[in-house]
Amino acid sequence: MSAPITSADFDRAYRAPITFWGDIRIPKEIQALARQGSPRSSLELGCGVGRFTRYLAQQGLRATGVDFSPVAIAKARARVAQDDVRPEFIVGDVTHLDALSGPYDVSFDVGCFHCFDPQGQRAYVSEVSRLLKPGGIHLIWALDWTPSDMTLSPASMKEIFAPGFELQDATKSRRRLVRSHWYWLVRSPSRG
Ligand SMILES: C[S@@+](CC[C@H](N)C(=O)[O-])C[C@H]1O[C@@H](n2cnc3c(N)ncnc32)[C@H](O)[C@@H]1O
Repeated sequence: MSAPITSADFDRAYRAPITFWGDIRIPKEIQALARQGSPRSSLELGCGVGRFTRYLAQQGLRATGVDFSPVAIAKARARVAQDDVRPEFIVGDVTHLDALSGPYDVSFDVGCFHCFDPQGQRAYVSEVSRLLKPGGIHLIWALDWTPSDMTLSPASMKEIFAPGFELQDATKSRRRLVRSHWYWLVRSPSRG
């Protein structure tokens, strides 16, 4: 079976009781992001059922999660329905986020960026660039070999995100037992 790419593919996957990418614990990188300069707002791209955005809301952030799968967003909203502090979950394509204006203090993505071809990557970078405050962190976890058969590496990520972002750090990861990286990107102070 090929990896899901379209919103219909992901809808199908999210109709199952569990997905193979569902985390139980919050990665330490997401926990660290919540402490980066005491952020007040966060935006998650490709939030799925919203586990990480919910965590950030519980840490006191005004947290927003976007995903193009209506099935995932319905599950995300249902999960937080009884929470005291509810994050915002929006159905949307992260390459065209016209409904959002930001700026957000931090943004992140766990497993979405590696779904894109070069055209999608450019549109994604342009949207994060527009929505993240200058100096803000954008954290990405991405596979080294993408579902669309491309490779991602610190060198290619640096190039893809230039000149609007600087790659502050890239850490090798074996999350879910696959070769991958956590990328810490900083929005340049001046818009590029
Ligand atoms: C591997 S899942 C990860 C979900 C979640 N971040 C997690 O770790 O549980 C990738 C997510 O990206 C979403 N996605 C992929 N392309 C997208 C796009 N163009 N716009 C919005 N969401 C997208 C999918 O629907 C899916 O929920």
